[in-house]
Order: sequence, then structure tokens, then C-alpha cells
Amino acid sequence: MSRNPRKLVAGNWKMNGSLAANQALVQDLLAGIGQPEFDMTCDVAVCPPAPYLAQVRQLLAGSAIDLGAQDLSQHESGAFTGDVSAAMLKDFGVRYAIVGHSERRQHQGETDVHVAIKVKRALAAGITPIVCVGETLREREEGMTEFIVKRQMSAVIHLNGHCISEIVVAYEPVWAIGTGRTATPEQAQSVHAVLRAQLKAATEHAERVRILYGGSMNAANAAELLAQPDIDGGLIGGAALKAPDFLKILAASA
Ligand code: 13P
Repeated sequence: MSRNPRKLVAGNWKMNGSLAANQALVQDLLAGIGQPEFDMTCDVAVCPPAPYLAQVRQLLAGSAIDLGAQDLSQHESGAFTGDVSAAMLKDFGVRYAIVGHSERRQHQGETDVHVAIKVKRALAAGITPIVCVGETLREREEGMTEFIVKRQMSAVIHLNGHCISEIVVAYEPVWAIGTGRTATPEQAQSVHAVLRAQLKAATEHAERVRILYGGSMNAANAAELLAQPDIDGGLIGGAALKAPDFLKILAASA
């Protein structure tokens, strides 16, 4: 099974935006990718906050940009006030859902098991989960990076079995998120290689699984990161909120 040839670049807008700001951002992105000289050879998604999914879906209609969500409920339906189910996201044309972002692990107490269940819910609804793993600065300094990302991944593999070939993985070192401190291409590649090997032990289709890098990826460092053999795209935070920057990252992934 050969490597998925198309990179994936996804913008995680986090808790940012408004009706007006989203409209301006999407219009600028669509104008940018519509330019005749713009050569977009990667898959692209944007992940707005849940209340704006319907708006952004409409804005993106008929375009080459897919819609993603930032989270989904571990439950199927019922008395879970505030939760949004995978089926509801599917109803709104959501193609990808970020699962297990470190901000949710940290602030909402999501565990490896919660993340694994959410992955299962997403896959069952026909949504591609973008499963985030990554170590904190302390864990890196203690030499625990490999142990941590493997532990986070193994919970997902354990619960999802052969379906694991349908996921996207995002390696996001926590110390690189929103800090301007990017992992070096070598640091990122070495963790991506660990994750690839772990996937290979779980599925014969591991080469097909796209492993994105996330953490202060920007217009200036994207090309070098994306040139690494096991980096199959990017999960972009801050730089996804500025159309010119996000467009430059898309161009760098060609
Ligand atoms: P930044 O690109 O702002 O560092 O955020 C990365 C991230 O958390 C994407 O999910």
C-alpha cells in the first residue's frame, strides 16, 4: 500500500471568529485559491467553532475546501447537555473532526479512552477524525516523548482495530502550540516516524494514514516541515486565521 500522495492542511480556528470575520476569511481564502496561478495540490479543510458550521458550510459550498469540526461528543445521543454528536456534525456536511486536541485534554479533562471513543463515533458516522497526540515540554525534557505519543495512539488503535487506517493523525507537541516555538523538522520527523511504525504494527495500510504536524506552523516554516518523509500535512492554529498566511501554507504543501 503506497503513501497517500495528497497532503492535508487543516485550519483549526479554535474559539475565534464571528459571522462577519468568518465570512471575510472564507471569502479571502476562496479568492486566493481561485487565482489562476494558485496551484492547490493538497486537501484543505477549515474547522470553525460549532455554532458557525452551518454558516461556513454555506460559504464553502461547491469549493475545494472541506468543513471540519473541532470536537464531537463521545455519546451517540441523549441527555448530554451542550454536547454535539457525530451524526449532527454529519448532518451539517462535516468531513473531518479534530479529536483529542491537547487543549481539550488539558482543560476538559479528556483522557486517552475518551479520545478513542470519540474516534469510534466519528468513524461510525462517516467523519474522518483528526486524532491529536503530543507531549508537554516537561515530558519532552524527561525523555518521555515517544512513550507519551505511543500511549495516546495505542488507546485509539486498541478500540478501533483495523478501522485505524481511516483516521488522520496530528502530532502536536504541546510546547509548540501557540508559542511560536516550532519543532524542528528533524524533531517532528522523528516522532512522525515513531507513529508511522506504531501504525504499521496495527494495519497494513499505515502508509495511507496521513500524519499532520501542528504547533506554530506558519508561512515561513511550512515548506521545510512538509518536506519531511513522514509529514503528510499540517494542522494550523494562529496562521489559519489570516488568509494570506494560510494560503502561503497551502502553496508550500504543493
Ligand atoms: P498554532 O498553530 O497556533 O500553534 O496552533 C496549533 C494547533 O493547536 C492546531 O490545532
